[in-house]
Amino acid sequence: MSHADDTAGSRRDFLYYATAGAGVVATGAAVWPLINQMNPSADVRALASIEVDVSGVAEGTQLTVLWRGKPVFIRHRTADEIKAGRDVKPADLVDNSAENDNLPPGQDGGDANRTLDKDGAWLVVMGVCTHLGCVPLGDAGEFGVGGADKQGTGGWFCPCHGSQYDTAGRIRKGPAPRNLPVPIAAFSNDTTIKLG
Ligand code: FES
Repeated sequence: MSHADDTAGSRRDFLYYATAGAGVVATGAAVWPLINQMNPSADVRALASIEVDVSGVAEGTQLTVLWRGKPVFIRHRTADEIKAGRDVKPADLVDNSAENDNLPPGQDGGDANRTLDKDGAWLVVMGVCTHLGCVPLGDAGEFGVGGADKQGTGGWFCPCHGSQYDTAGRIRKGPAPRNLPVPIAAFSNDTTIKLG
C-alpha cells in the first residue's frame, strides 16, 4: 500500500458516530442551535457511551470514531502485529503501565494488558498523543511491523514532534511520556464494540 493510498484510507475511515445526538436534531433543526448555545456540553454528555459496528473492519485496518469529542482508534490487528506487540518485554517499555481503564491499576504494559480480546486481534486506544494532544497517523512510524520502510502494518507516528507508538499503541520513542490510553470498551456482541 502506498503512503498516498494509506492517507486516503485514513480519511475514508474517519466516521462520526453521533447516533445519540441525532435524536436531538430530529426534534427540529431550529431547536438545536438554542440547546447548543445554552449548554455546549450537551452533545458530549449524550455520547457518554456509543456502540460501534466493527463488522467491516478488515484485519490490518482501523476505524477512527469520535467519542466524547476525541478520536478513538479501533484497530483489527494482523497476526504479525499481534506477534510484534507480544514479543516486546514490558520492562523495555518507556511506559510500563497498561494505561487501560478496563483493568485495575498497577498492571504492566504487556501486550495482553492492552487488547480488548484475549487473542489480541482488537486494540482500542484514544487517538490523542500523550505529548501535547495531536492525533497520531496510523500505519506509520518505526514501530509497526517491518519498521519505517513498510507502511500499512500497524504502529502510529505523531507528526507534531515525532513520537512513535508500536502496534499496541505504546510509546516507544519521542517526547510523549505515556502509552495511548485504552478507554472503557467491550464487545457487546461479535461485531459491536461499546465504548464507555
Ligand atoms: S503532540 Fe505528539 S509528539 Fe508532540
